[in-house]
Amino acid sequence: MIEILNTDELARARAAGALVGDILHALKARAVVGVNLLDLDRQARRMIEDAGAESCYVDYAPSFGRGPFGHYVCTAVNDAVLHGMPHDYRLADGDLLTLDLAVTLRGVSADAALSFVIGATPAPEDLAMIAATERALAAGIAAARPGARIGDLSHAIGSVLSAAGYPINLEFGGHGIGSTMHQDPHVANDGRPGRGYKLRPGLLLALEPWVMADTDELRTDADGWTLRSATGCRTAHSEHTIAITADGAEILTLLTP
Ligand code: MF3
Ligand code: CO
Repeated sequence: MIEILNTDELARARAAGALVGDILHALKARAVVGVNLLDLDRQARRMIEDAGAESCYVDYAPSFGRGPFGHYVCTAVNDAVLHGMPHDYRLADGDLLTLDLAVTLRGVSADAALSFVIGATPAPEDLAMIAATERALAAGIAAARPGARIGDLSHAIGSVLSAAGYPINLEFGGHGIGSTMHQDPHVANDGRPGRGYKLRPGLLLALEPWVMADTDELRTDADGWTLRSATGCRTAHSEHTIAITADGAEILTLLTP
């Protein structure tokens, strides 16, 4: 189902997005050498509960996972890219970490992710890969306006990722979002312009380009959730929730400084 939000729901979507941005900002600040992924998960839980919000992940049990997820934030390190399950692991210098968080606040959900490198000496190829997903996200957002079609966004995202030299896996991508985290329409990370659902004001979308450095093949961990690159190569993921408005797209999940 595709949901179109009214003015009141849009105000609540802004609040949910701001909360996701706040929590991701706080988790990023805390993610330094020696910090355990389970500490990040505990802080996410605390901040979600203090805000009177609900986690979209803790009870999430889709057909592909060994659900319920049972945690509050996805923490994907190095070759892990999607659905990274927090576990007893201390971050090390040079680790490439992806945090992905979705919450529901007063009936509306928001979802965002970012990748960054732990420590002061990031590998240039890691930074380049992260930057490519961020540019792809920006291109998708720039293409998102009333009258544009989902294929225009997919094409904008995929063109940036391909030009940067990364293979694209189409098994997981962006999605509509609203009263729940995952709604129609699906937003593939590559596609043909001019195809698909026509965007309207009030539509909420989560756009989420992600790549693996040298493969488009995923492997699932023994935990039944964490998805890694089949080759062990490093990975990156950038996601925002946006609202389609009469003037274009509004980013709801900006990291608040
Ligand atoms: N936030 C992810 C997405 O964008 C979903 C993660 S679900 C989890 O679709 F259960 F793995 F946390
Ligand atoms: Co998402």
